[in-house]
Amino acid sequence: MNNQQRRNITITVFSFLISLIFFGSFTYFVIFTRIRTVYPWLISLFSVIWIGLGGLFIWLGVYTIRTLSSRLNVGKRTFFALGLILMVIIPIGEYGGLALGPVFHVDELYYWNDGPYVTFGKDPQTEMTISWLTKTASRTEIFFGTSPDNMEKITSDDLRNHLHHLYLTDLTPNTKYYYKINKNFVADHESDTFSFTTAPSSNKDFKVILVGDMQPTWFDTLRTGELVARGIVAENPDFVIQLGDLASSGDMAQIWHFTMMNFPLYAANTPFQTTFGNHDYAGGGDVNARMLFPYDYAASQGLYYSFDYGNAHFISVDNFDAGHYEMSDSQKVWVETDIIDAKSRGQKWIFISFHHTIFTTGTSGQNWDLQSWLVPLADKYDVDGIFFGHDHHYEHWNYTYGSSGLLYNETDTPSGNETHYWCSGGGGAHLEVDYGVLTHSPMIDQRMFYNISSAAYEPITVTRDPWNSSRYIDSTEHKIYADGELYYHAPDRESYATDNEIYGYQYGEQTLHYMKLEISNSGNTCTISAHYPNGDLLTGPDGLYHQIWTFTK
Ligand SMILES: [Fe+2]
Repeated sequence: MNNQQRRNITITVFSFLISLIFFGSFTYFVIFTRIRTVYPWLISLFSVIWIGLGGLFIWLGVYTIRTLSSRLNVGKRTFFALGLILMVIIPIGEYGGLALGPVFHVDELYYWNDGPYVTFGKDPQTEMTISWLTKTASRTEIFFGTSPDNMEKITSDDLRNHLHHLYLTDLTPNTKYYYKINKNFVADHESDTFSFTTAPSSNKDFKVILVGDMQPTWFDTLRTGELVARGIVAENPDFVIQLGDLASSGDMAQIWHFTMMNFPLYAANTPFQTTFGNHDYAGGGDVNARMLFPYDYAASQGLYYSFDYGNAHFISVDNFDAGHYEMSDSQKVWVETDIIDAKSRGQKWIFISFHHTIFTTGTSGQNWDLQSWLVPLADKYDVDGIFFGHDHHYEHWNYTYGSSGLLYNETDTPSGNETHYWCSGGGGAHLEVDYGVLTHSPMIDQRMFYNISSAAYEPITVTRDPWNSSRYIDSTEHKIYADGELYYHAPDRESYATDNEIYGYQYGEQTLHYMKLEISNSGNTCTISAHYPNGDLLTGPDGLYHQIWTFTK
């Protein structure tokens, strides 16, 4: 064997090993994102064939190119470049094909034991649903009762699915119930006996936690999501509202598994009422979202619903039911009718949650359609709090519609009342710095407003610059809740957005956090506050921006 032949063999073996590693790791990723949920044995076989074929393919490629290169007098660099292109393009093409493939339904295909979590039924006073997932399709079985020592075995149906729902009805209001999943179920929890309490039938003090974007993708975001989840557990709220983007891609079973690793820490014992985001919708994932969370949806198309708790009414809006960041007209009509109905029932407090950024100084655009519809509506019906996520930080606006002399519609007659808006996107996902809040180019938008003083519609140009990277809070205690520093944006110190004044922007901070909504004083007082995961109040630089408000009616 001469030197040239030895070199050929060395290069071929090297390429073969590289292709094994590359295809092997790629296959592993694919298995754990989509396909493994079908038939594990088939996937194992498929993996072996894939890796083997990958190696063979690269070897053949190398051999052919090498032969051609000597005939065509192609240099070594060209030869390696072609090999690299092959190794990159083929897997991308394969994965692209998978990504465009069918959505895997979590009730039919799931590979982990996850949950449990509880959600309100149609009437939170008397109806509750317990849900969990199993890696094997099995019969639904549960132990349930008002005492942990005396639980009755219930078999709800004969369906053998991976996703299980136990629909409980005719419960007693304001009563604590205990439950236990059947003995074959083992999830990553600290206990195996869980409990929940039904909503009160009369005014009673209660506490709601609101938490934003979680979308865990890997161990870092699982860890930050757990930090927030542990904070919520410590709050022991009456129920939790999530603001969308629970999952980073709703069509993937593995991604739902990641999501399930954190929120059931509290949702096993606390009703969990979620809103849905663009990531939950990704790839047709809304099908899974609807299955996983069987709320009393108002329509068969779109994931929107509402419920009463005490003398408050909570509306969960779906920003995506008419497609890409668009709401259907029928949902808009439903929201208005729902507010009117709630008020007619005597519900004193009205709160709305959704996912997309109606306002933001972050990296996403402001959803103009949502804004021009909801701001006048919230003002007209005196909505008490509006909560959303999508941009991964905390922000607060106090917007008195019309105070800046601008209206969306000339026919609007503003009430002169304040409306509070909170962006709460710090539930565990990567924070805004990772999306470029400090570095993006200025964003320029032109919007058409009706100017009250000139009595005419006119374009208003708004510019949003990146945040100032030197403005951060030097808090060793809370720094762990940001990917870097706790950057803040206080427009009374420095404004980076020309539309801050229009919308009454108050304060923002980049940190993991959750929000707390408490009703007290026989239903007459509402306190809303924002907290770091350890429970501390967000206070801003030099303790000047305490994020807590008290409202009385
Ligand atoms: Fe989002």
